[in-house]
Amino acid sequence: MAAGAGAGGLSGDYYRRSCPQLELVVDMALAPVFAVDQTSPAALLRLFFHDCQVQGCDGSILLNSDERRNITSELGSDKNFGIRDVSTIGLVKAAVERACPGQVSCADIVVLAARSAVAHAGGPRIRGVPLGRRDATAASAERADAMLPDSFLGIDGALAMFQSKGMTVEETVAILGGHTLGGGHCATVDTARRGRGRSDAAFEAALRLACPAAAPRAVAAAVPVLSDATPSWFDNLYYWNAASGRGIFAVDAEEAADARTAGHVRRFAADGRRFFRAFSSAFVKLAMSGVLTGDEGEIRRRCDVVNH
Ligand code: HEM
Ligand SMILES: *[C@@H]1O[C@H](CO)[C@@H](O)[C@H](O)[C@H]1NC(C)=O
Repeated sequence: MAAGAGAGGLSGDYYRRSCPQLELVVDMALAPVFAVDQTSPAALLRLFFHDCQVQGCDGSILLNSDERRNITSELGSDKNFGIRDVSTIGLVKAAVERACPGQVSCADIVVLAARSAVAHAGGPRIRGVPLGRRDATAASAERADAMLPDSFLGIDGALAMFQSKGMTVEETVAILGGHTLGGGHCATVDTARRGRGRSDAAFEAALRLACPAAAPRAVAAAVPVLSDATPSWFDNLYYWNAASGRGIFAVDAEEAADARTAGHVRRFAADGRRFFRAFSSAFVKLAMSGVLTGDEGEIRRRCDVVNH
């Protein structure tokens, strides 16, 4: 599916000469991961969002804490609860380094892995994703905490967050469709019905049964709740559920009830191609947010540490 042309120093064929086989190498490195772990596409898509949301798509989420360099791992923020597959990016990076040493940033690998994840899960094949990002040399847990959404953020907050990245309301509803993959936990789904709009009583009762309010924190953090009946499949069932009052996160429940977004939810539920098109353009906008280019940052040799 075609995506917007590159801008701001990025371009779809950035590695044409320096690493022409890049996309193949990424796909080959991910194939065994996808084969072994059906939930890894969800993890890789969320990892991409959480990287881009904090000081731009710059691989900052991959850096380990390093006192001497004033780096505190973004994973130290509670808002990164549930983030997985950081080491999968390291695995892909190692394969890419073998093929094209010192050429490809970890930030681009995060984007390419998310793109592969969506395609592998049956979602759109997003073409022409702009590449050429450089890697951050700084990361801060406090910044991650300030920028990442709270688990119970509502549709107002989500609209503001993605509008600041140049997304339309339709694209914002589409990017939230990433929630068709994976799921959450009792601690992060909206059991207390904070989000306006959850209206399916049977679903509500089942959720309360699975996630008793009296459960200790550690239990609530460990019990998984699936996104929909097809958590490994990138489809539009998420919108069908949201429109039927079965959104699992507060934002999912609210977007189906809010006058600004409800129409898009219904249209995406009815028309999967329309969802795929809007998701693809939203993905590219997210992937372009706050990137480092030119002589900013560096091309990390390893994704978890800065070069010097
Ligand atoms: C700004 C609004 C958003 C909020 C409030 C939000 C909230 C959450 C929460 C609470 C979880 C569950 C975490 C856990 O318990 O493990 C989650 C999971 C997830 N989110 Fe979001 N999210 C938002 C936007 C996005 C976007 C833009 C994407 C990507 C396109 C995305 C993709 C995912 C995926 C794929 C998962 C499942 C991860 C897994 O199964 O490992 N989310 N989200
Ligand atoms: C360390 O990093 C934080 C967050 O990026 C920044 O606010 C602070 O000024 C830095 N401290 C030093 C000594 O560079």
